[in-house]
Amino acid sequence: MSDATSNTGGFFRRFTIGWKTRHLVTLLIAVLGTYAFLESRAQWSEMHRWNRAVGDMSLVMVAVSMVIGPLSRLMPRFRLAIPWRREFGIYGVILAAIHTTIILVGWVQWDFLRLFGYELHPSGVYVMFQQGFGLANIIGIIAMLYGIVLALSSSNWSQRMLGGPVWKFLQQSAYVLWMLIVVHTAYFLYIHFQDFHRPTPEPNWAQIPFAILVGVVVVLQLAAFLKTWKSRRNRAAPDQVSATG
Ligand code: HEM
Repeated sequence: MSDATSNTGGFFRRFTIGWKTRHLVTLLIAVLGTYAFLESRAQWSEMHRWNRAVGDMSLVMVAVSMVIGPLSRLMPRFRLAIPWRREFGIYGVILAAIHTTIILVGWVQWDFLRLFGYELHPSGVYVMFQQGFGLANIIGIIAMLYGIVLALSSSNWSQRMLGGPVWKFLQQSAYVLWMLIVVHTAYFLYIHFQDFHRPTPEPNWAQIPFAILVGVVVVLQLAAFLKTWKSRRNRAAPDQVSATG
C-alpha cells in the first residue's frame, strides 16, 4: 500500500498518472469486479451473494496491492504500477468494511454474540453453536482493524507525520494483513459449509481460483526475496574480497 514513486526514476515518473485518476480507475475496477462476482452467483440468496461478492473483490484488490512490489523487483517494467499499490489497498479495505457491514446487518442482525458463534437457546441463554464461525470472524475483525490502520496511514501526510522508519514498518507488515485474510477466507471456502447434518451447499466456484491466487502471491514473493538476496550477496562479495585481500 506504500507509494514509492520517488525511487522509480525520472523515466517512469514522466508516465505516472495523477492520484485522482488512479482513485477513479481503481474505484471503477472495484465496482466492475464486484458486479462480475455478483453475476457469477445469481442463484444464491441476496445476502450471501452480496457479502461474498464484496469479500471476494476485497481479497482480489489486496492481492493486487501485495504483488505489485514483488513484480516490480522481478521485472523493472512493473515499477510503473508501484503508485497503484496504495489505491488498490485502500479500496480493498473499503470493500472489506462493506462486507463486514453486510454480515452485521444481514447475517447476525447486530447481535454481537452471534458473530462469535453463540446462538440464543429457547431456554433464553446463549449457547456456543459454531466455534469455527466465531474464530473465523475474530480473525476477520483483526484483519479489518489492521486494514483500517494501513489504509489510514497510506497517505503522504501520514508518511510525514509518522516519519520514514515507523511508516515503513507499518506498511511492510501488510503481509500480516494478507495472512489473516487468507486464513479467514480459506475457512469460509473450504470448512464452514461442511456440516454433516445439512444438505451440502453448492460448491463455491471460487475454491480453486482462490488456491491459485494464494499460490501466485507466495511464488512471486519468494522469487522477489531470492532475487534481492542474491543481488545483495553479489554486491557484498567484492567488498569482502577487498577487505580480506
Ligand atoms: C480485511 C477484512 C476481510 C476480508 C478481506 C474478508 C474477505 C472474505 C472473503 C474473500 C470471504 C469468502 C467469500 C466466498 O466464500 O466467496 C469471506 C467470507 C466471510 N466473511 Fe470476511 N473478510 C474480512 C473481514 C470480515 C469480518 C470483519 C467479518 C465479520 C464481521 C467477516 C465475516 C465473513 C463471513 C460471515 C463470511 C462468509 C460469507 C458467506 O458465506 O456468505 N469477514 N470474507
